[in-house]
Amino acid sequence: MRRKIVAANWKMNMTGETAHNFFSQLNQMTWPDDVDAIVAPPNLYLQGLHSIKGNAKLCGQNCHSEQSGAYTGEVSAAMLSDAGASYCLVGHSERRKYFLESSSFLKAKVTAILDNGLFPIYCCGETESERRNDTHFDVVKNQISNDLFGLSNSEFGKVIIAYEPVWAIGTGLTATSDQAQEMHYFIRSVVREKYGSDIADDVCLLYGGSCNTTNAKDLFSCKDVDGGLIGGASMDPQSFLQIAQSF
Ligand code: PGA
Repeated sequence: MRRKIVAANWKMNMTGETAHNFFSQLNQMTWPDDVDAIVAPPNLYLQGLHSIKGNAKLCGQNCHSEQSGAYTGEVSAAMLSDAGASYCLVGHSERRKYFLESSSFLKAKVTAILDNGLFPIYCCGETESERRNDTHFDVVKNQISNDLFGLSNSEFGKVIIAYEPVWAIGTGLTATSDQAQEMHYFIRSVVREKYGSDIADDVCLLYGGSCNTTNAKDLFSCKDVDGGLIGGASMDPQSFLQIAQSF
């Protein structure tokens, strides 16, 4: 179902203590009823945050595609679920770039996430040079169709898509609301072509890339933007709340 979502991606930041403090503070605040809060702490902290997370839902930052086995250092979707996560990020540009994650691996991860009862938050987005060369629409369409379009209708209905232009992540550069709306509209039409109007109208499309308290209102006012995936600005509970109040 299409709904308003503000999701925090803490990346490799925070400690057990600062993560606890974040939720203790957030729990004292009045969160808007019609906005879902999702927080992706480092996977290690998921279990410990379960009892303090309040109404927020927890999200893994990454998982392996296999259920178990000899993959030193990795965590399976089943383990994330066991640790209290309801969602898992997949396809983040940092994973694609630094860990060379291929489309076939991402596809397998999405399936593992769904098979374990979690919801994937699938990230896509073009680099600066791809936008400069005017290939950003093709790039995003290829990512989505390669990684997600093997899913059945009911599986796809569980996926949240985050459009995160790589040039805007952690750079302080943000897509303008026109650029965000244009791409989100495009993504919805690509989904419509494949899965039909009901599913396309329902899919939640988040914007990510230097989204913060200053620009969230502008971005969230776009017709096809259903919320944000927030990195840097999500680690302070006050600014996370303020972003959620920006719809
Ligand atoms: P940022 O990160 O808000 O710090 O740009 C967003 C993300 O990588 O999900």
